[in-house]
Amino acid sequence: MLEKFDRYPLTFGPTPIEKLSRLSAHLGGGVELFAKRDDCNSGLAFGGNKVRKLEYIVPDAIKSGADTLVSIGGVQSNHTRQVAAVAAKLGMKCRLVQESWVPFEDAVYDRVGNILMSRVMGAQIELVDEGFDIGIRESWERALEDVKAKGGKPYPIPAGASVHPLGGLGYVGFAEEVRAQEAELGFRFDYVVVCTVTGSTHAGMAVGFAKDGRADRVIGIDASCTPEQTFAQVLDIAQKTADLVGLGRAMTADDIVLKTEYAYPVYGVPSAETNEAIRLCARTEGMMTDPVYEGKSMQGLIDLVRKGFFPAGSKVLYAHLGGVPAINGYSYVYRNG
Ligand SMILES: Cc1ncc(COP(=O)(O)O)c(C=O)c1O
Repeated sequence: MLEKFDRYPLTFGPTPIEKLSRLSAHLGGGVELFAKRDDCNSGLAFGGNKVRKLEYIVPDAIKSGADTLVSIGGVQSNHTRQVAAVAAKLGMKCRLVQESWVPFEDAVYDRVGNILMSRVMGAQIELVDEGFDIGIRESWERALEDVKAKGGKPYPIPAGASVHPLGGLGYVGFAEEVRAQEAELGFRFDYVVVCTVTGSTHAGMAVGFAKDGRADRVIGIDASCTPEQTFAQVLDIAQKTADLVGLGRAMTADDIVLKTEYAYPVYGVPSAETNEAIRLCARTEGMMTDPVYEGKSMQGLIDLVRKGFFPAGSKVLYAHLGGVPAINGYSYVYRNG
């Protein structure tokens, strides 16, 4: 589906699929759980889902003649850390706006994890006291203007690289990669579980799996806690991405499945149940997840298995999208494990 698009390699190649035998058994053994390890996809500052997306955006950035990648996220944004790493790898400058998206106060929140790495990689960081919003932000537009005013040539990458016209392509590629791996494994996954916030990961997967009739087998777990906005953004990106790749049919609301019951209390703050899921996954599989994104999708996966959402015998693929560095900003929550 992606043959006509340029791709700048930033990842190691296809990511491994790992069987989660002990977690599956712990949950009764009726459903077989697997993880696709996009958290281990690159040597660029711990990698993650944005590196896969950026492979299809970087050729356009290079073509534009830009000298500075300009992006935005929360203080502990994984996305901005990956943009900073890619800028360093390309020899570009990086300007990041980091907003106060998370009402969470840990003494070291703005010193450790993602933001620490972005600083070490040389990004210029501006902290802005604005709340959570996945849309286009004024602070980001001001940063773009500022780079220009100082004689630079900015390349705009919106939050999560999601509403960028090429932002959905990386996860169309994920679906193609899974199909090739399924051919080798000799079976097909019945469901894919993915964490959804700014939307292009889920949207790209839905388009990629629509090719073989599985768009609605991609189960998005909302972690934004603003699910109407996230759903609308996923659908919009899916429709535009389907046109771009020539899927041959329109994507509709029926193709997008978003579970909204796990994002509480608010974006970026883990509930007791999220923390229980993080610990269970870590203690059965040695697989770390984070309190903002993957801990919530892991909570959703576990709850859906317990509720019997997946018919007995289902094979379920959990997309691990990265994000573990942010856990360092939650040191007090996990002080006793
Ligand atoms: C670790 C992690 N998981 C999931 C997501 C959600 O992906 P998306 O923003 O494409 O919906 C993000 C980024 O927002 C992330 O950093």
